Amino acid sequence: MSKQEHGSSTHYAVHWQEEQYYYPGPEFIGQANCTDPEIYQRFSLDKFPECYKEFAELLHWDRYWHTTLDTSDAPFWKWFAGGRLNASYNCVDRHLQKHKNKTAIHFVPELEDEPIEHMTYQELYRRVNETAAVLQEFCGLKAGDRVTLYLPMTPELPVTMLACARLGIIHCQVFAGFSGKACGDRMWDSESDILITMDAYYRGGRLLNHKANADQAVQAAESAGQKVSRVLVWRRFPGRYSSAEPMVENRDYFLDELVKQNKNATIQPVSMPAEDILFLMYTSGSTGRPKGCQHSIGGYLSYVTWMSKYVQDIHPEDVYWCMADIGWITGHSFIVYGPLSLGASTVIYEGVPTYPDAGRCWRIAQELDVNIFHTSPTAVRALRKVGGDEPARYNYHFKHMTSVGEPIEPDVWRWYYEVVGKGRAVIVDTWWQTETGGFLCSTMPAIDPMKPGSAGPGLPGIHPVVYDDEGNELKPGEGKAGNLCIRNPWPGAFQSIWKDRERYIKSYYGKYNRDPQSKDWRDWPYMAGDAAVLESDGYVRILGRIDDVINVSGHRLGTKEIESAALSAEGVAEAAVVAMPDEIKGMVPDLYVSLKPGIDPSHELEKKLISTVADVLGKIARPAHVYIVPDMPKTRSGKIMRRVLASISNRRDIGDVSTLANPEIVEEIRQQVQG
Ligand code: WT7
Repeated sequence: MSKQEHGSSTHYAVHWQEEQYYYPGPEFIGQANCTDPEIYQRFSLDKFPECYKEFAELLHWDRYWHTTLDTSDAPFWKWFAGGRLNASYNCVDRHLQKHKNKTAIHFVPELEDEPIEHMTYQELYRRVNETAAVLQEFCGLKAGDRVTLYLPMTPELPVTMLACARLGIIHCQVFAGFSGKACGDRMWDSESDILITMDAYYRGGRLLNHKANADQAVQAAESAGQKVSRVLVWRRFPGRYSSAEPMVENRDYFLDELVKQNKNATIQPVSMPAEDILFLMYTSGSTGRPKGCQHSIGGYLSYVTWMSKYVQDIHPEDVYWCMADIGWITGHSFIVYGPLSLGASTVIYEGVPTYPDAGRCWRIAQELDVNIFHTSPTAVRALRKVGGDEPARYNYHFKHMTSVGEPIEPDVWRWYYEVVGKGRAVIVDTWWQTETGGFLCSTMPAIDPMKPGSAGPGLPGIHPVVYDDEGNELKPGEGKAGNLCIRNPWPGAFQSIWKDRERYIKSYYGKYNRDPQSKDWRDWPYMAGDAAVLESDGYVRILGRIDDVINVSGHRLGTKEIESAALSAEGVAEAAVVAMPDEIKGMVPDLYVSLKPGIDPSHELEKKLISTVADVLGKIARPAHVYIVPDMPKTRSGKIMRRVLASISNRRDIGDVSTLANPEIVEEIRQQVQG
């Protein structure tokens, strides 16, 4: 698929066409939660939206809904309107009667001599209640308030999320790898005046001082105008000396101490309207400002519970390990809410997949008897690179594996299937987004064959369609790329962008809405922001983002965010970021800058730019290369031609540049970059 065919400046990560099918084996099919090929008919468009009752029926409701889908404020969909429930009750309390001694969370610390923690549902119940007591009594928080969480991967993170959910408090977890500044910006946007964090955590052999980042977050929030009244600090080793010190008096408190003062407290779960907000999850878009995706309690929880049961195929006896970080939507949906709502055992691990050695993941799988495994192509590529033969040395048995977050190359897919899955595990390649709450496209694991490189068809109830720029529908098998949309709303979909209804409408519905006054969902196809090809078998092949978003290791970064970080460095006049394919991470950013008059380029300045971006946004956003150029290629109206820079970085044909204001600069930059 060439760029020209699609007609936008998108960089595509995928250049393959794969037609080979793989089939689930009888052993998997024999035990699967869904083997009914009629499932797609049960969820056909003419059954919409009532078919989604089946999702909601997986939950405990305090009061049933009166309207399955309320479209009166289109496109702000309200699912299960009139219903009431509590997410924490659904993920914890309702399992106590039968499963209180079952492990809810296995926590694997990075240091192998620190014991693995196996937290039962009863223990989870106790800890969630005690934490909720602190939030309610000590902090005075109540339903609808926002609290920012800036927590690493330890059990305190799900415990805190569920404590918030118990009281109807909206949690806004910020990935711990993000910078303090990025966290502070999100505190400001969400108007959180309480920050919950941890003193330290292990990553790649080092105990990182995370409280220092949290202090920066407070500073950033306050300088943006958001007052911060309290910082609650879990200690990685409760009761022990901590890198959190010095603590700020009357602001910072050790949460493990406060919890101790609330020993065995019980807090009634608050019965919440289904349409209230469970959490905000920030993600990147085309402008520099991150978007706070607002997820509902009833619709979201129904959706991720159904997906966990039927797409992840989680049974009560399974041990399920999703390697994502809970700081991203994948972790919210498929480490915490989905699996716990089903009463499953979910694994959380600290650190990185390849430290202390290439066998770590497989050792964990063996030790905990993990049989469902969920990770990203980036992790699969890295694991293959550092230890392609390692999985064979360990005695574990996966029945099911997931690939998520970016396109997976067929070659990488095959290694995942044959070596990691030992030829026995099915693979689902799940396509979805922060906005969508849960999976949209994937094969149903016991029903549909797998095709490396294609996500699969729309899941039951999800009706994908690909439009060209004029709004014409592209037919399956036509071979043309277009904008991937979903015809219908679904319960897991985000409700809006926090405090920005206009941006929500414009970004997701602006292009293909048929009538802005319409209250009919048929007039509001959801535009995902990905280019895709609909194949003749109905499978969707994702080509990549159509907006200014780069997918680095399966995480979204806005090029504008990186550019504005670079512009904050002294001496920088202009900045442009383009995406480059990377063997491990899928895509990485290349940064081009031009300098203010009188400032000279230097190697130091390049290094400084890399560290500035890391400080402002987090290490994940670090540019792979920095090029200090004499000037940017520009149109006559002064727009920077990022497409030209992308072609230079990617060593592609640059095309005709004669209409630029400064065509001669292109060759100069090309020589500088390509030598
Ligand atoms: C973007 C969403 C999926 C949750 C974690 C990332 C890309 C996602 C796939 C896939 C090809 C994929 C898309 C999408 N993407 N899954 N299976 N195959 N591309 O959520 O950070 O909101 O990113 O990730 O481009 O738009 P996110």
